Amino acid sequence: MSIKFPQNFLWGGAIAANQVEGAYREDGKGLSTSDCTPNGLFGEIINRNETEITSIKDRAIDFYHRYPEDIALFAEMGFTCLRISIAWTRIFPNGDEEQPNEKGLAFYDKLFDEMAKYNISPLVTLSHYEMPYHLVTKYSGWGNRKVIDFFTRYAKTVFERYKDKVKYWLTFNEINMSLHEPFTGVGLARNSTKEQIYQAIHHQLVASGRAVKLCHQIIPDAKIGNMLLGAVAYPLSPKPADVWATHQENHGWLFFGDVQTRGYYPTYMRRYFKENHINLHITDQDREDLKATIDFVSFSYYMSCCGTSDNSLRKKGNILDMVPNPHLKASEWGWQIDPTGIRYLLNLLYERFQKPLFIVENGLGAKDKVEADGTINDDYRIDYMNDHLVQVYEAIEDGVEVIGYTSWGPIDLISASKAEITKRYGFIYVDLNQDGSGSLQRSRKKSFYWYQSVIKSNGETLKYKPSI
Ligand code: BG6
Repeated sequence: MSIKFPQNFLWGGAIAANQVEGAYREDGKGLSTSDCTPNGLFGEIINRNETEITSIKDRAIDFYHRYPEDIALFAEMGFTCLRISIAWTRIFPNGDEEQPNEKGLAFYDKLFDEMAKYNISPLVTLSHYEMPYHLVTKYSGWGNRKVIDFFTRYAKTVFERYKDKVKYWLTFNEINMSLHEPFTGVGLARNSTKEQIYQAIHHQLVASGRAVKLCHQIIPDAKIGNMLLGAVAYPLSPKPADVWATHQENHGWLFFGDVQTRGYYPTYMRRYFKENHINLHITDQDREDLKATIDFVSFSYYMSCCGTSDNSLRKKGNILDMVPNPHLKASEWGWQIDPTGIRYLLNLLYERFQKPLFIVENGLGAKDKVEADGTINDDYRIDYMNDHLVQVYEAIEDGVEVIGYTSWGPIDLISASKAEITKRYGFIYVDLNQDGSGSLQRSRKKSFYWYQSVIKSNGETLKYKPSI
C-alpha cells in the first residue's frame, strides 16, 4: 500500500518549557510547581528558596540558551510545526502581578522569530504541568476562583504579544490528569477530596473557556484547542460488568472534551457528582464562559489500557493506574505498545467531538546506546513511530480529519514522571547524565534521518503493516 498524508499536514515535535528550558531563575523567572517537584510528577513537593541549580530539571537541556541550534536541527528534519509551552512564571513570576515580566516575554519573541526563519509554525500550550508556586501557597492553587482571573490576564498578555507570530494554541496540557496528580494539574495537595479536585478542575475549565474567547477576539485567524491525555480503555473481557466499567472509565476523561467541545457539563457527569456527593459551586458567569468551545481537539497517546470491574488488577503506569492488556508488549518502562490504539482513538474522538484532531504527543521513551563511533542506532524508536504513523494514516483513510502530528520529545529532555534523562524520546541525542554531568552536546540519532525522510516524502517512506 502506498502511503501519502494530506497536503499541508503539519509534521513536527513537541516539548514543554519545564522539561527543556532550564534557566531555572534566570531573567526574573518565578518559582513554579514543576521547580518544586525536582524528582518528577510523583516525587516529593519541596518549598524552595535557593536560586542556585540543585536538580537536573533546573538546567534541563539548556534550551533557553541553545534554542537556535535546536531549531536549526528541527528545521533540518523538515519540521513544519513545533509544539512548545510558555512558562507562566517567566511572564508573571508570582502569578498575581499586574504587569508582566518583559524579559520573559522577550525570550519567547526571540524563540518564535527563530522558528519563523525556517517556516516552522508554533503550536503553543499556555500551561504545561506548571503554574506559579506562589499561587499555590497564597491562594490554594486552582481551588481558588481568583486563579481564573490571574490565568486570564496571563493568556491575554501572551495572545496580545504574539498575535502575529502564533496561530495555533492549546489551553491546558492533559487537563484530565489532575484527577490523578492534583498538585501538578491544579496546584492542590495530593490528599485533596474528590470535591476539591473537581471544583479546581471546574475553575480550570472556565479559565480554558475564557482563554478560547479571548484568543478568538484577539487573534481572529488563530485556532485554539484543548489537550487530553488519551489513555483509551478496552474492555478486559466481554463480561457486561467489564464493558460497563470500561465505558465509565472512558467517560472519566472524555468528560473534559465533552465540556470543552459542547460548552456545558454532560448529564452523566451531573449524575456522577450527585451520586458521589460532589457539590460544585458553578455561577451563571461560569456557565457563560464554558460556552466558548474549542476549534480542535488535541491529545497525547502513548498506550491503551483495559477496563474491568475488578479494581485489584490495576497497576501504576505513568500517571494513571492502569489494567494491562494481556495481548500487548511493553516498553522498558512498562508502557504497553499499541499502534492500533491510535487509530481506534482517532476514530472514537472524531465520531464523538466532530472536530479536527491534532496528535500533539506520541513516542517511545527508551535507553539509547552511543556506539564507539558516536552513532545511535535506535531502530526500536523507528519501529514504534513507523507503526503508529501507519495507523494514523489508516485513520485518515477512515475519514478522520487530522491536522498534524508532533512527536513527543524530538530532542532528549527530562521525563515528566520521574525527572529522568535516561528515558530518552529524541531523534536528537543530548549528552547529559542523570547526575547532571555531560557536555549537553547534541547529535543526530538514526531516527533523525528516518523522520527526515518520512516528512520529506509526506509519509511515503513509511513501511505499511496492517493492524495487529
Ligand atoms: C505526557 C506529558 O504525560 O507524557 C509530557 O504531557 C511527558 O510532559 C510525556 O513528558 C511522557 O511522560 P514521561 O514521564 O515519560 O516524560
